[in-house]
Amino acid sequence: IRRPPRSTLSSSSAASDVYKRQDKKNLVAEAALDYIQSGDILGIGSGSTVNKFINLLGSVKNKIEACVSSSQKSTELLHKMKIPVIDLKECDRIPLYIDGADEANSHKELIKGGGGALTREKILAQSSEKFICIIDESKVVDKLGKFPLPIEVIQLAQSKISLEMIKIGGRPVYRNQFITDNGHIIIDVHDLDINEPMALEKKINHMPGVITNGIFSIRSADEILIATDSGVIKG
Ligand code: A5P
Repeated sequence: IRRPPRSTLSSSSAASDVYKRQDKKNLVAEAALDYIQSGDILGIGSGSTVNKFINLLGSVKNKIEACVSSSQKSTELLHKMKIPVIDLKECDRIPLYIDGADEANSHKELIKGGGGALTREKILAQSSEKFICIIDESKVVDKLGKFPLPIEVIQLAQSKISLEMIKIGGRPVYRNQFITDNGHIIIDVHDLDINEPMALEKKINHMPGVITNGIFSIRSADEILIATDSGVIKG
């Protein structure tokens, strides 16, 4: 749905060079601008792709009423762009939520939390009417789980949750020197065999001490925009 200018397509090798240089994150962030309706309150995720989106948002900021942000980093950037940020409790509805992901499958289920903002991201995704996920093609997978699953955990439960993860076949790694915006730790779980994302999302979330885990299956994306070598496609 977004393609580089025609002039760059003159020969396949030239095109491939152009595409190699192309900033895919920027391209997909630009494509997401088309989804904004006048007067919207926008939910804003976190991460480098969303940062590109926030930068572009400056050009259409008169169109939106305000944003609700999923992290301190996104809030800072929004403030820098002079875009108003309001609290979730101040909005009746969030028509649109834009966020990236670390992995996405063909069912629009995701792994998120590489940046550690998964809990607030999940709250905003679940509070939004439409969730558009913006990624580049390297994030598309047949099966979730190659990217280590982030879990936000209350510090007291670190060893208990780590043992639970080993029991289900995972290899938990404490995210060193990282505290979330909510004041908790992150455990990144490697090697999980995620055959049923929704069942695993529920199972881990039921463990005492878990704030939330980075599987987004109960509230998956509504649409995925994927930046590829030949432009942005819908997943
Ligand atoms: C932040 O906690 C994450 O969920 C991000 O959405 C995810 O890590 C994607 O980030 P990038 O756009 O930086 O790859």
